[in-house]
Amino acid sequence: MTLENHFGEDVAERYDEYAAEMFEPATLDPAVDFLEELAGDGAALELGIGTGRIALPLAARGVRVHGIDLSEAMVAKLREKPGADHIETTIGDFATTRVPGGCFVIEVGVPVLRTLPPGERFHVFDFSAEHIGIDEYDVANQGLISHHLSLRDGSWELRSLPFRYVWPAELDLMARLAGMALRERWSGWSREPFTSESTKHVSVWEKPA
Ligand SMILES: C[S@@+](CC[C@H](N)C(=O)[O-])C[C@H]1O[C@@H](n2cnc3c(N)ncnc32)[C@H](O)[C@@H]1O
Repeated sequence: MTLENHFGEDVAERYDEYAAEMFEPATLDPAVDFLEELAGDGAALELGIGTGRIALPLAARGVRVHGIDLSEAMVAKLREKPGADHIETTIGDFATTRVPGGCFVIEVGVPVLRTLPPGERFHVFDFSAEHIGIDEYDVANQGLISHHLSLRDGSWELRSLPFRYVWPAELDLMARLAGMALRERWSGWSREPFTSESTKHVSVWEKPA
């Protein structure tokens, strides 16, 4: 199956600008602290390394980092940055990656289905002068299309990205089927407790080598 690449040249060109908040030390540092501690003396493999937002500061702390990404354009942006020569990258689909053991870490949203009134499919998550963000849910199929309307040089551009949303318990089952066990679950990188109100989770599963 050929996967559609949603991170082509035009997205890669603007990714760091779009994601500027995610590059702020207040957001990034707790994630890098967490991953550095978890890596210990070992290495890290980032699935979807992109332009190196996480990989570059992690490698700068002395962790050996390898990244996989589907998008040559995103990786080309990473390769332009200082410190990139310490990071090995592979272009490919991370779903086919096999590793012998270790910890698998994700930061992912908890589906916000409680915000949808019965019969409603759309959830507006941003409404500002230059960006309107609307998630479109297909509850029966756990589908979500994230629509972004952005004002660029005086005209509005629409970009729609399809996802399949996933519940924490479903991820635990998938992990178990892959031979992993849940080791930690938090609502953020600073190990904030995960509760019924959490809108995202940082989860770590472990697979014995
Ligand atoms: C939202 S970006 C995140 C990039 C980076 N991890 C960060 O935190 O800024 C998602 C990245 O995952 C890559 N990606 C998505 N699906 C993939 C797949 N199946 N295999 C490899 N890379 C994939 C995309 O090309 C993109 O670069």
